[in-house]
Amino acid sequence: MRYAAIGLGGRGKGQMMELLNVPGVEYVAVCDNYGDRAEKGADLVEQKTGRRPKVYQDYRELFAREELDAVLCCTTWVTHGEIAIAAMNAGCHVAIEVGGAASAQECWDMVKTSERTGKFCMLLENCCYDRNEMAVLNIVRQGLMGEIVHCAGGYRHDLRDEIAYGKENHHGRLKNFLARNGELYPTHELGPIAKLLHINRGNRFLSLVSVASKARGMADFLHRKQPADYYLQGAQWNEGDIVDTLITCANGETIHLTHDCTLPRFYSRDYAVQGTRGLYQESAFGNALMIDEEIGTFQGWNHRPANFDDYRAVYEHPLWKAYEKGGIHANGHGGMDYLVLSAFADAVEHNTLPPIDVYDTAAWMAITYLSEQSIAMGGQPVPVPDFTNGAWIEREPAVPSIFSCEEIYPDLFAADTALENSSTATAESVLPLQASP
Ligand SMILES: NC(=O)c1ccc[n+]([C@@H]2O[C@H](COP(=O)([O-])OP(=O)(O)OC[C@H]3O[C@@H](n4cnc5c(N)ncnc54)[C@H](O)[C@@H]3O)[C@@H](O)[C@H]2O)c1
Repeated sequence: MRYAAIGLGGRGKGQMMELLNVPGVEYVAVCDNYGDRAEKGADLVEQKTGRRPKVYQDYRELFAREELDAVLCCTTWVTHGEIAIAAMNAGCHVAIEVGGAASAQECWDMVKTSERTGKFCMLLENCCYDRNEMAVLNIVRQGLMGEIVHCAGGYRHDLRDEIAYGKENHHGRLKNFLARNGELYPTHELGPIAKLLHINRGNRFLSLVSVASKARGMADFLHRKQPADYYLQGAQWNEGDIVDTLITCANGETIHLTHDCTLPRFYSRDYAVQGTRGLYQESAFGNALMIDEEIGTFQGWNHRPANFDDYRAVYEHPLWKAYEKGGIHANGHGGMDYLVLSAFADAVEHNTLPPIDVYDTAAWMAITYLSEQSIAMGGQPVPVPDFTNGAWIEREPAVPSIFSCEEIYPDLFAADTALENSSTATAESVLPLQASP
């Protein structure tokens, strides 16, 4: 299949090369605003494949000249939407890296363009394929946690360096933290939660409220790290250090998101799922699972929940079992990058809807501009648009696929046993071959 890669910063370069590990992917063109980055991207592809893709600095020119099946877009938060729309209008399926939307219009345009062109737009939410999140999905779908009532998660990542030196490093985050105040990066935790709660297929986000703390982290960091005449000293940082968002869902669940990138902090997504019969809680101090049926309802104040790793061995998601058997590609985030890219390439190859479709993409990305509106109005509730236009109530089932991050189809993994004896049954060949037609 003929691909183009657009946006070749740190992430784009990595994703472009990781996607090349999936069989059937060929790059005919690469593009970045910065000519040196585009040339470097072409060098990398040529070194690996022996074929040099064409180099562009303007994606419009690329779409006008190249015949493509699909586009990998890893640019910036405020450019993903427009490039996705241009790609679909040019007749290509498109995958975009994660980030939030700037407006309702951007989300609706992505949805309407996908519906009109028949091309899909997939948000590359790799955390939907994280090993732990997938094992939790498996545990929930097997009914061990009862009915899910509340979920939580955060993007809790100390990015002060990356944000502060955005100008020097040509990095996109800086301008957003100066200009905006909202849940800028919701989808790492929200993607798996939305899939767990069947958002857009039987459930939907109804409304949200967001509040932001004061913004002090960046100014204090630069005060200590840079001389008094550094150009950002005294800058007005708008993004609150801690932004909390509460989403309510049509089926009654609540979701709590936390954005936390400008204070001292260890990395964690704090993924939590709480049902009538169990709890999963990610923690840097050890992930925990509590299941009523196994430990009884109350074990005393000092009770320590079970170590999640013990459960994971039992409730490993079949995709991860197959992946481990074939040899995990740990290049990107422990292997989940390869899985999300495989899901994208599989949908391109079979011309089917991907497991994360344009309605998911729009609903998840919309949380950003909606949270900005809520914060601007002092934490007022704001409605979340229904990008399916009512179809969520009785939407047709998703395409069964081993890459589904919402349902589990054990039958689709049965072929694994047949392939086990094959000498070519590596992760690279097995995963795409097992995929749904
Ligand atoms: N899923 C993950 O785990 C993960 C990890 C890191 C980054 N990301 C996401 O990936 C995206 C890229 O991240 P990054 O760190 O590489 O950012 P970056 O700002 O360093 O790089 C973006 C690149 O896109 C290029 N670009 C911007 N607009 C363009 C346009 N109109 N046409 C062509 N090129 C354009 C820029 O020149 C730059 O080289 C972001 O959305 C980021 O949030 C995701």
